[in-house]
Amino acid sequence: MQNKESKIKIINLISEIKKQEDVLVGLKTRSLDHKFCYVGTKGADKWLAMLNDPEYRQIAEANREKFFQNNLDDISKNFPKNGLNIIALGVGDGLKEKVIIEFLEKNDFTNIHYYPVDFSKELLDVAINNAKHLKCKITGVLADIKSDDFAKFIRDNFSDVKQTSLFLMLGNTFGNFHDQYGILDTLYGVLKTQDYFLFDVVIKRHNNKLDYMRDFEKNMQTIQNPKRVDHHQNYLVEELGFKKNYGHAEVRVFSTDMNNNVLKREHYFVFDRNVLVDFGGEKINFAKGERIKLQDVSWYEENYVVSFFEGHGFEVLGKYKIGTSGFFLVKIK
Ligand SMILES: C[S@@+](CC[C@H](N)C(=O)[O-])C[C@H]1O[C@@H](n2cnc3c(N)ncnc32)[C@H](O)[C@@H]1O
Repeated sequence: MQNKESKIKIINLISEIKKQEDVLVGLKTRSLDHKFCYVGTKGADKWLAMLNDPEYRQIAEANREKFFQNNLDDISKNFPKNGLNIIALGVGDGLKEKVIIEFLEKNDFTNIHYYPVDFSKELLDVAINNAKHLKCKITGVLADIKSDDFAKFIRDNFSDVKQTSLFLMLGNTFGNFHDQYGILDTLYGVLKTQDYFLFDVVIKRHNNKLDYMRDFEKNMQTIQNPKRVDHHQNYLVEELGFKKNYGHAEVRVFSTDMNNNVLKREHYFVFDRNVLVDFGGEKINFAKGERIKLQDVSWYEENYVVSFFEGHGFEVLGKYKIGTSGFFLVKIK
């Protein structure tokens, strides 16, 4: 029998130089990509602590279990029984992927090759660890899914038209991408016509941004870690050496369209004083009152998601609403 460890490989597509350039551009334009919230032990630990918060866990776990109990049978009918690549974009702790693959393996799907993908090395390690017991082959990919290197990796490994791939983007990762059209470009770059894309977003349940904000503030104090906003500052604190007294967190909410189809929450770091930041030999001035955007989270109207994908050349094969999440299975037409 093949040694289990030999079934696990890790590929690193992240160049440290590119990462530094990204941060520098982010600091200069006052907008850091949300992927930086999860890197470093602090970023990863805070995210895992939030996921493992018993109250949050109960809700998330209950939703996830309900979703898979009710729908995996239906969803998996689309997939070939022998030979499937599962590529988890922004895998995080990989617990949802674990449940999906356990189900497939129990139901005699064979020759599964699982590719957990994340920008955070710390989270990728957690995801791989959570998948070790599975029968499938595992190739962990440390990558920025929006990078050319990742697109090339996909082309090099998945261009065989006979192979079916299931791309996953779970845990509202789709809603974290600031630019929905940019993420569509990524998908066009990686999906072939026989591939599937399964993702979930948070379904909007407020009619306007004020209700959303009130609910968010209430949740901040009850369901989730009360210090959760701090989570978004970890990269600044750990990797850039920002001091606590440089500034504070701020959250803004707005709708991206007249009909409130998408409500967006933006997380900022606001400077309380003038600060000169030295990064990679460059000095960047931040004036008191200036802000750096650290993360977006969008909540969507269910029908809007369907028309958005249909309007961009996708076929929606299934939509499943569970609690606050909407799961969608789509493929390119
Ligand atoms: C909202 S979390 C969701 C994690 C997980 N899928 C879940 O359901 O709990 C977003 C994840 O995407 C990763 N991520 C964000 N932007 C990324 C990028 N450009 N490339 C690769 N991973 C990214 C983050 O590191 C994080 O693990």
